[in-house]
Amino acid sequence: MEEIRLLGPGDSETLMAASHLFDSPARPDAAIRFLAEPGHHLLLGLVDGVPAGFVSGVEMTHPDKGTEMFLYELAVDPTFQRRGIGRALTEALASLAQTRGCYGMFVLTDEGNAAALATYRRAGAGDPKRCALLSWSFDRGAHPGPAAEDSNASSPGKQDQREPPPIG
Ligand SMILES: CC(C)(COP(=O)(O)OP(=O)(O)OC[C@H]1O[C@@H](n2cnc3c(N)ncnc32)[C@H](O)[C@@H]1OP(=O)(O)O)[C@@H](O)C(=O)NCCC(=O)NCCS
Repeated sequence: MEEIRLLGPGDSETLMAASHLFDSPARPDAAIRFLAEPGHHLLLGLVDGVPAGFVSGVEMTHPDKGTEMFLYELAVDPTFQRRGIGRALTEALASLAQTRGCYGMFVLTDEGNAAALATYRRAGAGDPKRCALLSWSFDRGAHPGPAAEDSNASSPGKQDQREPPPIG
């Protein structure tokens, strides 16, 4: 891979141009917000200037533990898979995490995702641990975002009746 680029607050157009790499098209407002957050990171892998893959990470801090990097998502365009890009992106995020003073990094993935498991193991992850993932879904109309001061009625979390979101 010719380049791994760490995107910053001025790179929302670059991120939008790599939208095809995400599970669903990136939203401009969410892209701008993500890139503006100091603890949110997006590394873009380029081959001949073409976006080939990305990894995103979010720093999570807890009072008794310090700061850990959550590998939020990793994806490589099928055209560019099996060339070491997923591993290189994962290693680059791990390196960034160390630079940022994180004590570790973690990711959630499906037990059946052989490609992800192999990639993370090759990038230095330890043995997988079993865990349960539970999630809540909220009505976006009721809480459109931090800019909306006058939200509608509160929408208390209810146990999610739908399929959980994709992980990793
Ligand atoms: C997971 C993913 C990012 C891997 O990207 P990639 O660039 O193809 O991975 P790499 O070429 O860096 O491969 C890393 C290691 O994983 C192995 N690997 C890759 N794909 C594999 C597969 N389908 N089955 C088994 N092993 C696989 C490679 O052989 C390599 O190991 P090696 O060095 O011992 O040969 C890619 O398959 C993808 O985008 N999948 C869809 C999205 C996804 O599942 N993301 C992870 C969610 S947590």
